[in-house]
Amino acid sequence: MTERLRLGCLASGGGSNLQAIIDRCRDGSLAAEISVVISNKPDSGALQRARNAGIPALCIDHRNFPTREDFDRAVVAALLEAGVELIVLAGFMRLISDVFLDAFPGRIMNIHPALLPAFPGLHVQRKALEYGARVTGATVHFVDGGVDTGPIVIQAVVPILDDDTEESLSARILEQEHRIYPRAIELFAQGRLRIDGRRVRIEPPLPPGSEVLVHPPL
Ligand code: GRF
Repeated sequence: MTERLRLGCLASGGGSNLQAIIDRCRDGSLAAEISVVISNKPDSGALQRARNAGIPALCIDHRNFPTREDFDRAVVAALLEAGVELIVLAGFMRLISDVFLDAFPGRIMNIHPALLPAFPGLHVQRKALEYGARVTGATVHFVDGGVDTGPIVIQAVVPILDDDTEESLSARILEQEHRIYPRAIELFAQGRLRIDGRRVRIEPPLPPGSEVLVHPPL
């Protein structure tokens, strides 16, 4: 059997990205396995999804820790214990401290529901809509010390339609999140990602697809 990359997934919410990764690990199309799922929320759907899949699921409630660093130390200890090689933040709604970053340099990924560097932070589907942007999307990036600022691995562009609501746009973005997050993990698992300053090099490079995206079309 080929080596499977050991993942530690952190999630606070419903866990649909987690589910996409579980499904791809399960059907064998992603050479990875989830060693542990950790949530800071006892009632998160992500924990339930993990349990349903027979994956070790831990709740580490941030409210039980006096500081962010104390919370991070507990999370890092659990991840090390599980022997994980890549940390996958999948809707994890906590900022992470240097304690966490230093434990896994270049080994923490996040997904963000906008085309970074546009619209970092929270409620970004609504912000893109209110701004009047014609496109937005999803970004998988490595995590650094800033908020949604780390080197970008993959982005998918999603059109904003005239009759979109925050919900319809979020759903369209989420569909792409579920495609690009497993793909980014796959590239990492294959040892094909190299962080070079702000840029992430894919080696060997992927052949180009359609090079220009225009919305509305010409
Ligand atoms: C996703 O939109 C993700 O990009 C954002 O939080 C949402 C999590 O959704 N960071 P889910 O819990 O994976 O369904």
